[in-house]
Amino acid sequence: MGERNQFASKFGTMAAIAGSAVGLGNIWRFPYVAGNNGGAAFLIIYAIICVLISMPVMLSEFVIGRRGRSNTYRSFMVASGKKGWGIVGAVEIFAGLAILAFYCVVAGWSLEYIFASAMGQLKAVEGVDLMEQIAQMGVRFDTFVGQGGEKILGIYRPIAWTIIFLGLNCIVLAFGVSKGIERCSKFMIPALFLLLLVLVIMSVRLDGFAAGAAFLLKPNWSAVTPQTIMDALGQSFFSLSLGMSAMTTYGSYIQKDQSLVSVSFIVVIATILMAILAGLAIFPSTFTYGVEVSSGPGLVFKTLPALFASLPGGPWVGVVVSPIFFVLLFFAAVTSSFSLLEAGTAYVTEEWGFKGKKINRPMALVILFVLVGTLSVFCALSQMEGSSLFIMETSLFDFLDKLTSNIILPLGGIAACILVGQRMEREVVFDELTSNGQFSAKLVKFFYFMAKYICPIVIFYMFIKGLE
Ligand code: PFF
Repeated sequence: MGERNQFASKFGTMAAIAGSAVGLGNIWRFPYVAGNNGGAAFLIIYAIICVLISMPVMLSEFVIGRRGRSNTYRSFMVASGKKGWGIVGAVEIFAGLAILAFYCVVAGWSLEYIFASAMGQLKAVEGVDLMEQIAQMGVRFDTFVGQGGEKILGIYRPIAWTIIFLGLNCIVLAFGVSKGIERCSKFMIPALFLLLLVLVIMSVRLDGFAAGAAFLLKPNWSAVTPQTIMDALGQSFFSLSLGMSAMTTYGSYIQKDQSLVSVSFIVVIATILMAILAGLAIFPSTFTYGVEVSSGPGLVFKTLPALFASLPGGPWVGVVVSPIFFVLLFFAAVTSSFSLLEAGTAYVTEEWGFKGKKINRPMALVILFVLVGTLSVFCALSQMEGSSLFIMETSLFDFLDKLTSNIILPLGGIAACILVGQRMEREVVFDELTSNGQFSAKLVKFFYFMAKYICPIVIFYMFIKGLE
């Protein structure tokens, strides 16, 4: 076990972990949810939930991973001293791979749009008004994913991009944890931040900047309901990649002398900041043109390309802004998918064997490429018109999303808190959280208390409410 993978530098560790957190969820969902749930009022509630509930869960997952120094399945067993806990870890790993399957489909769409914008296919059509341009972009997207319209782009295109995206992930991971994931994240996360800044600076010039910023940042406490708090918790769990083997696996790569509390705090702040910047990059243009604010694929692949193409300042603006946006979307997606694939890779290399020999990393990646790739293809197909890939009246794509986000994610979070708070010895947990006494135990006491008593109850309550 001596030469097991680990992150090489403190900055690289933070970039990789923030990379897992900052993803599609931050860019296309968070700003919309925040805007519609009271702007700054939501942000304040969200930040409090992140620090009081999500951070103790993240720390618990780091403790389990760093203690176990192994994949999530084994780390749960080592930390608890009980074999049965391994099942929790294994479920999280497979759930992570299921998330990866549908995540690859959406990330594949970002590749299509990088390509399309680079080829000038998303340029504004002269003499056509904006609403018509948005409608045309809508048809383009629907046709591309295989819903309605003539299948001019061919139904295999989204599948091809999905597979290319997964393939890119496998290639990066084949280089290893520090030379692959860490090296890429060290470049991509700062680049993502800079690209977001460029877009925000460009949107400051727009007439709708003040209205867009106000939508996101003006506090409106009357919009806050109990549902808002539930939404904030769900969003913060998904956004911080909790309950899903990603943080436990990355925790196992954090060096012994790095402070877990600082890592998790910086990651939480960076994730919130990036989501706010994404909102400031997106909303001013929707307000400038009086377009309805929305989220998800509709916003990113239908409305935004049309808005970018019509930005004032001449056609070059759209030609520059569109690819910037889709490249940053790709960076956000790929650094998140690394963590999901790595959780599976660590598991296969450390647990599976063939003829008494461990499976090496490249081989594990080939196995996962085939398994996840097959599920991804089914997810992409389930989006297409006339598809029969439905489970309980929802497409396979939406089913996997709901199953993982609404059920496995909260249960995984509760399990981590119970293991760290109730089963592991307090001293062992404190040794991890203070890096053997190197860091102050004051804050640690607070997070330990939250993980032990408060978080499991709050998350369980939200979980039950969410099922109703
Ligand atoms: N945090 C990512 C996002 O906000 O898009 C998604 C994600 C990645 C969820 C990794 C879970 C995970 F384990």
